[in-house]
Amino acid sequence: MKVLVVGAGNMGLTYAEGMSRSKLLKRRNIMVLDKSEERMQEVDRMAHFDAQDNLANCVPEADVIMIAVKPYHAEALFKELKPFVKQGQVLISIMAGMSIKAIKEFTGLEKVVRAMPNLPAKVGKGLTSYVASKEVSRLELLTVEELLNTTGKSVKVENENYIDASTGISGSGPAYVFYFMQSMMEAALQMGFSENVSRVLVSQTFTGAVELFNQDTISPDSWMKKVASKGGTTQAALDSMKDNKVGDLIKDAAFAAFDRAVELGKEY
Ligand SMILES: NC(=O)c1ccc[n+]([C@@H]2O[C@H](COP(=O)([O-])OP(=O)(O)OC[C@H]3O[C@@H](n4cnc5c(N)ncnc54)[C@H](OP(=O)(O)O)[C@@H]3O)[C@@H](O)[C@H]2O)c1
Repeated sequence: MKVLVVGAGNMGLTYAEGMSRSKLLKRRNIMVLDKSEERMQEVDRMAHFDAQDNLANCVPEADVIMIAVKPYHAEALFKELKPFVKQGQVLISIMAGMSIKAIKEFTGLEKVVRAMPNLPAKVGKGLTSYVASKEVSRLELLTVEELLNTTGKSVKVENENYIDASTGISGSGPAYVFYFMQSMMEAALQMGFSENVSRVLVSQTFTGAVELFNQDTISPDSWMKKVASKGGTTQAALDSMKDNKVGDLIKDAAFAAFDRAVELGKEY
């Protein structure tokens, strides 16, 4: 199998690196193409990819084509790509907001997978939600899943509405966690801790809480009850969050991202 990754930016290279580490593909079977010369020099230096500079040469060679350019570059790219595609190729798009229907129309390809990654893919802890057009076979879906899982985990969703919904949870979600971390670090600094110590206090608290959560099936709410005791310090913090409706505000934020994903999707 040969995979072509178009767009060697943040996400494209993350997936290409994931695939190259996974042993799923022989390294030279991962073709990478970017229109930026600077990026291509970087890819060339990595030596473990087959760096490409011409769609006409590499598109017909690929079994799977991953599109990792920004959505506003997609139309121009698809115009260039269309003459070289072959029916039977599977196209995976990780672009936010562009529907399967639009991708089919732009490229003429039938087998299209729309995927929504998130940033922790960079460290192999990503979550990619994906949905496929009905033309993608079960076997091809397994391959797609294996490719996506090289950067973490994947979840197959029922329809594209859930891709927009997962944008609000896992796609944009790392930023919500960073927001929470930032606030806790600011509180730690105000309490007199140094920047470094604040960072360690917050980082280890998040890592530890997530590890605990992953080791059991109980809900976050049950974990809160385990940490808090009546009249204690944790309860004071949780009461303050409840009084300030922090939970509702977080839900509002997730829905704001979901709504924005739907809105952006209407452009295509
Ligand atoms: N970053 C995230 O956390 C995240 C999360 C979810 C989804 N996504 C999606 O992932 C996609 C890629 O995002 P990114 O952050 O990786 O973008 P990026 O870092 O800007 O990388 C995109 C690369 O594609 C190149 N490119 C543009 N047009 C091209 C063309 N016609 N042929 C070949 N290469 C072309 C760009 O070159 P130039 O710089 O010269 O334009 C750039 O090097 C986006 O569609 C985004 O919606 C990203």
